Amino acid sequence: MNYSDLAPPYIRAIAPYQPGKPISELERELGISGIVKLASNENPLGASPKAIAAARAALDEIALYPDGNGFDLKDALSQRYGVVQNHIVLGNGSNDLLEFAARAFLTIGDKVVYSDHAFAVYALATQGVGATGISVAAKNFGHDLDAMRAAAVAQGAKMIFIANPNNPTGTFLPGDKLHAFMRALPANILVVLDEAYNEYLPEECRYDSVVWLKEFPNLIISRTFSKAYGLASLRVGYALGNPQVIDMMNRVRQPFNVNSVAQAAAVAALHDADFVRQTFELNRRGMAQITGEFTKLGLEYLPSFGNFVSFKIDDAMAVYRRLLELGVIVRPIANYDMPGWLRVSIGLETENDKFLSALKQILGEQ
Ligand SMILES: Cc1ncc(COP(=O)(O)O)c(C=O)c1O
Repeated sequence: MNYSDLAPPYIRAIAPYQPGKPISELERELGISGIVKLASNENPLGASPKAIAAARAALDEIALYPDGNGFDLKDALSQRYGVVQNHIVLGNGSNDLLEFAARAFLTIGDKVVYSDHAFAVYALATQGVGATGISVAAKNFGHDLDAMRAAAVAQGAKMIFIANPNNPTGTFLPGDKLHAFMRALPANILVVLDEAYNEYLPEECRYDSVVWLKEFPNLIISRTFSKAYGLASLRVGYALGNPQVIDMMNRVRQPFNVNSVAQAAAVAALHDADFVRQTFELNRRGMAQITGEFTKLGLEYLPSFGNFVSFKIDDAMAVYRRLLELGVIVRPIANYDMPGWLRVSIGLETENDKFLSALKQILGEQ
């Protein structure tokens, strides 16, 4: 018997998420070392030393279950954002929160709107509960908010996912546009505003979505410690929303979904503003370094507000494979309907150099 037939059709239809290739796997395959991984938008500085120290200290207690309510981390977040703890739900990475939103509010046949080229997990979370995703055509690779609202209203959608900035396109929606979108949207449509790359926004682009929660009870904001805070492996993120929405999300949450090491590290990371600033500065310089070379090489790229940039290149898969041989891992994004593009995460200056010289070598070989 084929056991996959036991799964509902909407589960069988899911195309699994394709993660970036781990360094260890490429090392095994090619027998080379010194590999640079610029494939998963991780923090090239690592994590805050304070977060690492807090994680180490928390190891002494790993025989105990974590605080399932995440009191200390929620307390730190509540002070940071000026919201009461019942406005916060913690996730095993922000990926968890995207799934809570889907599992708490959607069922088979419900409609969900997101944009073409938007982060893959929106479609996965939607499909995972048997809901129907409606992918709206992008405008210049970015979210077309008017078209998304029109599609959601016309099709009776229950939820909209928005990534700001979006991965893998790096596109950004200004705060005033998002606010106007929320005002025009019927209040019974939930909006999950995924701000995983929020900390990378330049000063002039920053906006305060948290204050909008008072105005829009249908808004859920999700953020992560995986990117600018450098805790990707520990899996910790949070969502902010109105208490009724957060209550429903908590009901589908595993009781101990965020481990104690992650909780302790996240509290320390949240307080290390210097580390986040260094991360931001490094990213800004690295972005200029890489996009400057793209321009010199005549390569088209999408100006990015995140810690990665997608560029267009002939024979993208062949270039991807050749980069692997040269010890550089980037990310093909054909699964985002961008087959002629690759996405590179911004690394340390030396890592960016290694990527750029490998790329130049490949272009010379063509
Ligand atoms: C736009 C976006 N949202 C959410 C996530 C999920 O990250 P995590 O689960 O590590 O918080 C990612 C990770 O790449 C992302 O790019």
